[in-house]
Amino acid sequence: MGLESLLWLAALAAALPQDGQSDQQTSLVVAPQLQPDSHNTTYWPWRPLPWGEINFLHTTDSHGWLEGHLNEVNYGADLGDLASFMEHMHDKADQYNVDLLVVDTGDLVTGNGLSDVTNPQGRVSNKIFRNLPYDLLTIGNNDLYDLEVTKGIRTDLAKIYGDRYLTSNVDVNIDGKNVSIGHRYRYFTTKHGLKVVAFAFTLQEFARPSWVSIQGHETVIDTPWFKEAMSKEADLYLLLGHADVAESCKVAHPRYGGKENPLICMKDWFRQNKPNIPLQVLGGHTHFRKFKCYDGGSSGLESGRYSDTVGWLSLRDIAPSGSNNWNGSRTITGVDMPTRTCPPSTTTSSSTEVDSKVVRLDRRYLDFNRQTFAYHAIGATGPEVPSRFDTPLGLKTTDDVYNARVNLNLTQVLGCAPRTYYLFSEIFNCPGNIFPMVRLALNTTVNRDNQPRLILMGTGSIRYDLYKGPFSVGDSYTVSPYDDAFFYLPNVPYSIAKQVLCKLNNDTSTSCETEDPVGPCKMSESFYSTRPNEGLSQQEPLINNLHIKEEFNPGHVTADDFGNCSISVSSLSCGDDTKHRDVPEKYHFPSYIQSQGNIDKGKTQTVDLVFTSHVNGSIFKLSLINQIYTPSDVRYYMDKSFTTRTFLQEYAKIAWTQNATSSCAIGP
Ligand SMILES: *[C@@H]1O[C@H](CO)[C@@H](O)[C@H](O)[C@H]1NC(C)=O
Ligand SMILES: *[C@@H]1O[C@H](CO)[C@@H](O)[C@H](O)[C@H]1NC(C)=O
Ligand SMILES: *[C@@H]1O[C@H](CO)[C@@H](O)[C@H](O)[C@H]1NC(C)=O
Ligand SMILES: *[C@@H]1O[C@H](CO)[C@@H](O)[C@H](O)[C@H]1NC(C)=O
Ligand SMILES: *[C@@H]1O[C@H](CO)[C@@H](O)[C@H](O)[C@H]1NC(C)=O
Ligand SMILES: *[C@@H]1O[C@H](CO)[C@@H](O)[C@H](O)[C@H]1NC(C)=O
Ligand SMILES: *[C@@H]1O[C@H](CO)[C@@H](O)[C@H](O)[C@H]1NC(C)=O
Ligand SMILES: *[C@@H]1O[C@H](CO)[C@@H](O)[C@H](O)[C@H]1NC(C)=O
Ligand SMILES: *[C@@H]1O[C@H](CO)[C@@H](O)[C@H](O)[C@H]1NC(C)=O
Repeated sequence: MGLESLLWLAALAAALPQDGQSDQQTSLVVAPQLQPDSHNTTYWPWRPLPWGEINFLHTTDSHGWLEGHLNEVNYGADLGDLASFMEHMHDKADQYNVDLLVVDTGDLVTGNGLSDVTNPQGRVSNKIFRNLPYDLLTIGNNDLYDLEVTKGIRTDLAKIYGDRYLTSNVDVNIDGKNVSIGHRYRYFTTKHGLKVVAFAFTLQEFARPSWVSIQGHETVIDTPWFKEAMSKEADLYLLLGHADVAESCKVAHPRYGGKENPLICMKDWFRQNKPNIPLQVLGGHTHFRKFKCYDGGSSGLESGRYSDTVGWLSLRDIAPSGSNNWNGSRTITGVDMPTRTCPPSTTTSSSTEVDSKVVRLDRRYLDFNRQTFAYHAIGATGPEVPSRFDTPLGLKTTDDVYNARVNLNLTQVLGCAPRTYYLFSEIFNCPGNIFPMVRLALNTTVNRDNQPRLILMGTGSIRYDLYKGPFSVGDSYTVSPYDDAFFYLPNVPYSIAKQVLCKLNNDTSTSCETEDPVGPCKMSESFYSTRPNEGLSQQEPLINNLHIKEEFNPGHVTADDFGNCSISVSSLSCGDDTKHRDVPEKYHFPSYIQSQGNIDKGKTQTVDLVFTSHVNGSIFKLSLINQIYTPSDVRYYMDKSFTTRTFLQEYAKIAWTQNATSSCAIGP
């Protein structure tokens, strides 16, 4: 991969304070490019983007990843590179005489140190994020779990973006009053005269705090503001949403009492009541690349997660014919334009079908790297990104991101991860799966004088893969962002303690694994249910990858309503902008894992039953435990400051430092 020879220490020495302390007060100036400790991609797009009368750049679920992915070649750009890209694409739209809107659909916190290390989350990262010239934004569920976080979003983002920040169905109780964080809707005319009415709907199906209320579609359509919005003359309805674009209106099996997916219910309402006005959905929340055709005049796009994707969407046949007010271009000489349409709905009645306008459109999922951005923005075709790509705003934003990383102590490298550990892309408990490493890290670091112990953790604590290469404090947050301390019950009979894991997992099978796995890795598919959490991919595994050149970088291979990249990554209908070898995210795992320390199965009588604060509630639901112990028996096992965020830092310092003194290559 050409990168094997990369000497990271040499590269870092120039720009990085090695101990995270030396440069606290210095405001660092950064080279005009991505973060200095990031990498360039080795593959870039092979065909230009199609442009229509109105075009969209879409980001979603960035979860604080403003610095991009330092140890992954595909996604090495940062927020500054994205800012430069947006500005160039706006210029290009002007040159083509068409419209471009830039949209984000929420979840700005939880999942990265830049957003999570501050109190409240987002205190620093929101002020950097808002450098970007977004036309429309909305709020995600992760922005709504903590009142202080939500208040921060309100003052630092919603108030700054003004009528561009939309929350059509979210109310938050602040100081005894229900307030809308953003505007309910936005009616505007694009640069070239298209009349757009935009809304934003957030999902209901999450653990909503009592101070948050998420309205359903029936409530929304009865409001005076909605009636006002409906009285506006429109060429296009735009529905942003922090919600799944591929669900149906009704939630089939709610876990959190959500009655509906308001985004989809509203889409259905519009298609029923305004079938002749095209409608575009831009959604999020599930962390996939997705494109869904609803009918000839409407479709939905979702654009990945964690700053790994920028979604592109281009629409044609939106502009009214014979309008004096629209002065855009219907055709652009020498530029690809969308030729495809979504099939008509099979459920719409024939009378509405007659009125319904058909839109020509296309979509593309762009990898989040500078070569991709420069290729589409200024036609750069090689590994070198010309310096004219970097705009002053882009450079400033890159500096802001880097300075924040340094000031928040995220850049300190703790060791060299010897391989990549996958969450969903490798079988549970196989080498290369993250959990054997996590278990070992727990055993190594959660330890009091080598006392016999069983350590229990919820697998939901682990949120992302850990990639081969320099492992920094920042990486410990992307892999395990939550701040759960380690508690314990002392001197629990081993005969009882060893049953807890299977009970927590509701695993009643006789083969339930209470021990650390030994021998060849295996997975009892029958038992491990799909984790209800976001993040598990429905992207298709690549069955026959012989035709895909081995040297392509591993990455997303997406199947959507306009094409299946698994059949051919080189097909014009494939939505992925860069050809990849698939790393399907398809494996499931149990809800809880256990690590054993210093247990001698023949001899050990009692153990310390150690568990994270997140697991505490579930432990006390087990009769096995609550018949003997009460919550007052629970103590801290480690110092309060030692948490699920820090155990990997401690482990890296112990296990991965030898390798950190020589070259530390990232993986493919
Ligand atoms: C705020 O909205 C919730 C949910 O609709 C409602 O139960 C509550 O009474 C409202 N509070 C105020 C102060 O209006
Ligand atoms: C196109 O029309 C808009 C208003 O609808 C106007 O602001 C803009 O200047 C016009 N552009 C050109 C190139 O005529
Ligand atoms: C990335 O590419 C640029 C040229 O575009 C080069 O200056 C830089 O050194 C490269 N970065 C790394 C980490 O290889
Ligand atoms: C960063 O580390 C320094 C030195 O250890 C410390 O004083 C400072 O509080 C830390 N900052 C943050 C945000 O943790
Ligand atoms: C767990 O840690 C102990 C030291 O406390 C060590 O003796 C033991 O080998 C470790 N177990 C595993 C599976 O690494
Ligand atoms: C186990 O079952 C209980 C009771 O039905 C349920 O509350 C809990 O969520 C289940 N746990 C898992 C890990 O499936
Ligand atoms: C995409 O193609 C693969 C390989 O032919 C197939 O297994 C998969 O089911 C397809 N996916 C969809 C959504 O059609
Ligand atoms: C642990 O859970 C029990 C039962 O829900 C609860 O009463 C107790 O306060 C919890 N302890 C801590 C430290 O969170
Ligand atoms: C160091 O890296 C090599 C390969 O890169 C690996 O085999 C070895 O296990 C690593 N050592 C440690 C302590 O991680």
